[in-house]
Amino acid sequence: MDKRIRHAGLAAKVMTAAKAAERVDHGMTIGMSGFTGAGYPKAVPQALAARMVATHERGEPFRVRVLTGASTAPELDGALARADGIDLRLPYQSDPELRARINRGEMDYLDIHLSHVAQYAWFGFFGKIDLAVIEAAAIMPDGSLLASSSVGNNKTWLDLADKVIVEVNHWQPLELDGMHDIYYGTALPPHRKPIPLLRPDDRIGERYLRLDPAKVIAVVETNAPDRNSAFAPLDDCSRQIAGHLIEFFRHEIAKGRLLPQLLPLQSGVGNIANAVLAGLRDGGFSGLSAFTEVIQDGMLELLEDDVLSVASATSFSLSPAGIERFLGKIDFFRQRIILRTQEISNHPELVRRLGCIAMNGMVETDLYGNINSTHVAGTSIINGIGGSGDFARNGFLSCFLTPSTAKHGAVSCIVPMVSHVDHTEHDVSVIVTEQGLADLRGLSPRQRAKVVIERCAHPSYRPLLQDHFDRAMHHSRGKHTPHLLQEALSWHQRFLDSGDMRP
Ligand code: COA
Repeated sequence: MDKRIRHAGLAAKVMTAAKAAERVDHGMTIGMSGFTGAGYPKAVPQALAARMVATHERGEPFRVRVLTGASTAPELDGALARADGIDLRLPYQSDPELRARINRGEMDYLDIHLSHVAQYAWFGFFGKIDLAVIEAAAIMPDGSLLASSSVGNNKTWLDLADKVIVEVNHWQPLELDGMHDIYYGTALPPHRKPIPLLRPDDRIGERYLRLDPAKVIAVVETNAPDRNSAFAPLDDCSRQIAGHLIEFFRHEIAKGRLLPQLLPLQSGVGNIANAVLAGLRDGGFSGLSAFTEVIQDGMLELLEDDVLSVASATSFSLSPAGIERFLGKIDFFRQRIILRTQEISNHPELVRRLGCIAMNGMVETDLYGNINSTHVAGTSIINGIGGSGDFARNGFLSCFLTPSTAKHGAVSCIVPMVSHVDHTEHDVSVIVTEQGLADLRGLSPRQRAKVVIERCAHPSYRPLLQDHFDRAMHHSRGKHTPHLLQEALSWHQRFLDSGDMRP
């Protein structure tokens, strides 16, 4: 028997992706594996997309509802979107084709907190889950699955779905065995109990994903890499943002509000996050821990350098160079990395208990610290809220990071009023741009506006923001949170009309 398919009954169910895709029907709700371009099924979605195209050519409908962990890759989201095969998609996504279809109104997209997905499925909020399509690194003798490079919502899809298709990916290293921690102690209210995790390195679950072999309708073998996009080299802007944040951490340590080893770090995806991690390494920090969603290249480096002692997450998101680094020292990383289900990696109870330091990117902030993480000009989605809200609301510190401008200066990321709200002023403690850092803790709205303009706005927008705020203070009846309502979104309208927010 293939050393990756160690269950005789399931070995007998091996078939091609095309054959497996024939078992999928129009209208199904499908839970798929995948989180930030890792551990997603790579063959069945493409075969399904081909079937959808052929079905559409015959004039018949073929669309499904696709639920995942987070973003996947062109082989899943891209292929199904191009085939016009997705009726509804949730949660976080980042595929250009999918995004374009969502923003053209051709399909529905539900942007929900990553910690909510599993429990909403258990509550029955998404209806029946017909099928799970899950990538695994191997099938164990008892039929349980060795998860691959992400865990995401796989446990929930496998438990809830009527039928299961497993993709066994030979590209995924078998040495992942021992890295996963699958917690089976969650329950429905009112029967919930405290989750017994007190430190980021606590193991509270099982090594493998449970699977009832009787539900499996197909096993498909693949040998294909994860998305693994390369990161752009760190630019000055990211470095400056990281520098301000690290200076702030030092200040907090000096004030006695943070320990030298800080508190468990949550770090969003992207370049700025990587720059912050690089800054921590260069800044002489040690004994740090991470309780986060995604392990990026920067975290591997910190683990190797002993700056970080443990990283708990639900997924990897590595560049090709990061993959090489990971595979080269996988036994070392297995001692220091724990991959959990996303209902645990993003659990508000745990984020608050551990006191995470949340660091996430944003699209724009207003003068008061309301944050838009998802929409351009209030209407077009970029990616989704991801896990940022799970950590922002519940973290010890909630930091939002962005360059002060976008679109080569035509857009200010500090605006009078955000065009869409993902995180309210109540969930935001620190805002950082390359210009500086605004510490909003303990400040009233008017005090917040002053520091946001002074510390974070780009010089070319600072006078405009100050003028707006001064006139709002002068004219507004409500001076608790001053606004000129007739002008508050005029910057966005100007950008839509002329391509530039400046008058
Ligand atoms: N107005 C209009 N467009 C803006 C903008 C603004 N204020 N700020 C950024 N953008 C655009 C950029 O121009 C870029 O578009 P382009 O690729 O067409 O040039 C795009 O948004 C991404 O911006 P970028 O500067 O590359 O930043 P990023 O990769 O750091 O992403 C977010 C920023 C906000 C999109 C990203 O952090 C995100 O999706 N956040 C929400 C989810 C999250 O926080 N996850 C973390 C936990 S899972």
